[in-house]
Amino acid sequence: MIRSLLPWLMAGALASSSSWAATPKPALSTEAMAATAHPEATQAALTMLKAGGNAVDAAVAAAFAISVVEPFSAGIGGGGFAVFFDAKTKETKALDFRETAPKRATRDMFVDAAGKVVEGRSVDGWLSVAVPGVVPGLFELHKGRGKLPWAKVVAPAIELASKGFVVGQHFVDSAAVREDALRGAGSEPVFFRRLGADGDRTGVGWAPPVVGDRLVQKDLANTLKAIAKNPRAMHEGAIAKTIAAEMKAHGGLVDEADLKAYRPIWRTPLCGPYRDLTLCTMPPPSSGGVHLLQILRLLDGTDLKAGGWHDVDNASRLIESMRTAFADRAVWLGDPAFVDVPMAQLTSTAYADLRRPEIDPKHARKSTTVKAGTPEQLGLPKGSAVPPMKARNESQDTSHLTVVDQERNAVSLTFTVNYSFGSGVVVKGTGILLNDEMDDFAAAPGVPNSYGLVGGEANAVAPGKIPLSSMTPLIATRAGRFVLSAGAPGGSTIITTTLQTVLHVVDFGMDAQAAVTAPRIHQQWMPEATRIERLGFDAPTQKALEARGHVFDVKNEGWGNAMCIVQRDDGTLEGGADPRGEGSAGGL
Ligand code: GLY
Repeated sequence: MIRSLLPWLMAGALASSSSWAATPKPALSTEAMAATAHPEATQAALTMLKAGGNAVDAAVAAAFAISVVEPFSAGIGGGGFAVFFDAKTKETKALDFRETAPKRATRDMFVDAAGKVVEGRSVDGWLSVAVPGVVPGLFELHKGRGKLPWAKVVAPAIELASKGFVVGQHFVDSAAVREDALRGAGSEPVFFRRLGADGDRTGVGWAPPVVGDRLVQKDLANTLKAIAKNPRAMHEGAIAKTIAAEMKAHGGLVDEADLKAYRPIWRTPLCGPYRDLTLCTMPPPSSGGVHLLQILRLLDGTDLKAGGWHDVDNASRLIESMRTAFADRAVWLGDPAFVDVPMAQLTSTAYADLRRPEIDPKHARKSTTVKAGTPEQLGLPKGSAVPPMKARNESQDTSHLTVVDQERNAVSLTFTVNYSFGSGVVVKGTGILLNDEMDDFAAAPGVPNSYGLVGGEANAVAPGKIPLSSMTPLIATRAGRFVLSAGAPGGSTIITTTLQTVLHVVDFGMDAQAAVTAPRIHQQWMPEATRIERLGFDAPTQKALEARGHVFDVKNEGWGNAMCIVQRDDGTLEGGADPRGEGSAGGL
């Protein structure tokens, strides 16, 4: 979901790259900090921290709360990734609770007999739903790490669902965008306002919510109560049976066995150096970590700081490094259980050294001339196959949250139902809004999707396979000390938004709030144009880049909803919440 930039940003407060004094100040705390996409979720996290909970308790409580107050972005019917830094052991862990394709999924389930993608099939309704993983994931993260009882971390969400919360602009905008899908799935009674006494299920009696409406979700509250008692309640037993029965009745594929079999996966985080930091983030099935590190490797040797923010040469290098990385993404990335992703090669200095000379900051490249790395360049065994390209679709929604506690344990967690309001389907009597994560697979060969994003055979649909993601929850440490956590929603822009948040802090010395506020650029190989937020470059910089052949698609609206926490050298925590969203950072 694309959101409006702050009016002050539009008014030109950031017209010059040096006017960062105009940004809001970060939240500060010497104790603990949470930054989430909604003040109610930040409050849930702070309540846990005040009650003696740690970063895990707080992050899990915030994730459950987001499931209630931001169902359009993420929730218990979806999936996600978490990166956890344990301050005592100095270890970073990565948890994958991404949705998986149901076992009855087939490679061509979203194309017609002629091989053409059937519009909407992978986005709206029951067939678009993959097996959700959020509840097993949050439970796995909490198990043995949280200090508070499981039921206590679910409690704030139960309260928000039973007592209701006040709907904001972001909710209203998202509901308007997905009105057809929600009505199509009969979900309007869950999220819409009833018109008069004769409101009915035909859709006539329900209107999309308006800002200020109080949304109560009684069914969801009951489901959360069941989950608070039994973390398997959504995947086994009565609720699972209801999900499976509703799936069957509407032509969906997820069944009881799929739900029962779902397990989150601990993965070795993908870590790499940047300046004097170690950055740890998500490995495949996210593409986020691979390409964030790949872009940083391509930038090795570039003194970003010396040139200043958006120095013309360095901006050109940054754009071209993104272009190279996304060309690789389209070909090489997929679920590592199904394809060999050359992860180490793509993030290696040797590969970056090979590809960097292709970049001349004085001349922008046409995307058609930028190719994915060959097996030889990647040092793969002779004769390794290059997976052919396929079109793929990718959402612009999702939610990121991050918490750092008194001991400096940290959680960086990104989760999603994929598109705004996921599939639009709410399972009858449960309040569970289901994802449309099947849309993150590549659906058909050779057809660019609505975002122009292309993917590879490596990401074709298969039973039990995990669709490729861009989610990039990240934690940076220096010599075993927490320094920074960051992440963002926004489909393919997640990678570049998280990357720029890191660069803003590490290279340009911005605080956590300025780092998530600064205008962004995004280049994803296809389409050709580099997206820039209005005022992303000041006019002379943009002109100079255009003179070098760069093509820009200037957006009047911003994208992403980044969250960031930074620990200063004196131990103070800074929290930043993206002004493009409605979130907040708050400290103890
Ligand atoms: N559904 C968005 C992502 O996983 O990247």
